[in-house]
Amino acid sequence: MSQQTIVKSYGNYINGEWIGKALPTREVINPVTNEVIGYVPNGGTKETKEAIEAAHYAFREWSQTTAYERGKLLRKLHELVLENKEELAKTMTLEMGKPIRESRGEVDSVASFLDWYAEEGKRIYGETIPSHNTNKRLQVWKKPVGVVGAITPWNFPAGMLARKMGPALAAGCTIVIKPSSESPLTAIKIVELCEQAGFPKGVVNLVTGSSQEIGDELMANPKVRKITFTGSTEVGKQLIEQSAAQVKRLSLELGGHAPVIVLDDANIDLAVREAVASAFRNTGQTCVCANRIYVQEGIHDQFVEKYVEAVKALNVANSIEESADIGPLINKSSLNKVIEHVEDAVQKGAKVAYGGERLQELGENFYQPTVLCNVDSSMIVMHEETFGPIAPIQKISSIEEAATLANDTPYGLAAYVFTNNVSKGMKLIEKLEYGIIGWNDGVPSTTQAPFGGMKESGVGREGGHEGIEPYIESQFVSINVE
Ligand code: SIN
Repeated sequence: MSQQTIVKSYGNYINGEWIGKALPTREVINPVTNEVIGYVPNGGTKETKEAIEAAHYAFREWSQTTAYERGKLLRKLHELVLENKEELAKTMTLEMGKPIRESRGEVDSVASFLDWYAEEGKRIYGETIPSHNTNKRLQVWKKPVGVVGAITPWNFPAGMLARKMGPALAAGCTIVIKPSSESPLTAIKIVELCEQAGFPKGVVNLVTGSSQEIGDELMANPKVRKITFTGSTEVGKQLIEQSAAQVKRLSLELGGHAPVIVLDDANIDLAVREAVASAFRNTGQTCVCANRIYVQEGIHDQFVEKYVEAVKALNVANSIEESADIGPLINKSSLNKVIEHVEDAVQKGAKVAYGGERLQELGENFYQPTVLCNVDSSMIVMHEETFGPIAPIQKISSIEEAATLANDTPYGLAAYVFTNNVSKGMKLIEKLEYGIIGWNDGVPSTTQAPFGGMKESGVGREGGHEGIEPYIESQFVSINVE
């Protein structure tokens, strides 16, 4: 698919129809070139109400289908996603700048989530509880929560949608999707595949446009029983406040500030490889990216030297090129944040071991992958999420110091530990207040395991068998048989 073929207008998907092309439109911009690559409707309150209405109506029948029927449709969608892998990956790369090989990997993960939840829906077991009374039978029935509002982020426009849509549909919920305004086209293409797979009308709906209006309606409309959101902690907190009025169920996957701890006995080459992968995946724009690296003094200098060599080898290029390891930042304001964080660190005494410059010859939004040394906790980069290709490395002396520094943050999403000493590793991990730990592993996320954070990094878990629970309610039934 060439870039030209996707410069077209897309509609919103409401009650099984593509509508809204006549609405005022929003541009979708390729961050590599800053060119418009598509248009989507600027939907708002009205369209969101209609989508909720459709989802609410469809819920009556959809919730009564068997998990086997729902699983069959999800399997079909899984197959269609794989058949359309290249188109989905290219769409993603063009609209948000993810290096193409990573985009393909994300499409594989979408397929894997759909496959997993196609099966997991069949394992929503109720319970029979031993009774205290010979005349009573105690049971727990499981029910889908109802209409789900799914608000997805720009950085994983396909993966995060599948992680929400897969379990929601498998559980018998219907869904209204609000994709990010920066990268709505990938979600639109996945919804086109839902239509092709044969999901009944109203089961899957999608509205693009004003985040404020769509978000407010999803929160205010009592027909929406659950919101699942991936995005910033700031917006997550607003959703918590808004959810109070109707005690709306919430799943929140929010910001992080991931520490990497490398102990003296670590395999340095492995630690370097994994910590580079973690820090620079998606050009440093993931919630679980390594944000700060603490290296024990015995191997600090050797680690920095090897780390810089590995970062130098990363190829910064137009993300659509096969060889691209690093692409652009999503937009100008993200780029400015990166510049500000590096400048702040340098002003406070950090040394730029590599990088530290924009790469304007490649495009407006490109920044060199950057390694900072001599950093400390006073620097913004050591406590605020940069969401860019920056790896600050700090020397530490002890495991206790590492644990204290690692936990000194309101976030608790992911942390990484590098050591070959099992007892040191276990003791250190026990101290870490993080929902995800990579032990000698820089990329721990996977379909079968729970993903989510402690503290201000979120509420609930996605993925694995836990990932379907937020879409199910328990109903206790006490039966008097006298
Ligand atoms: C995210 O950054 O939100 C997702 C990253 C992942 O799945 O590893």
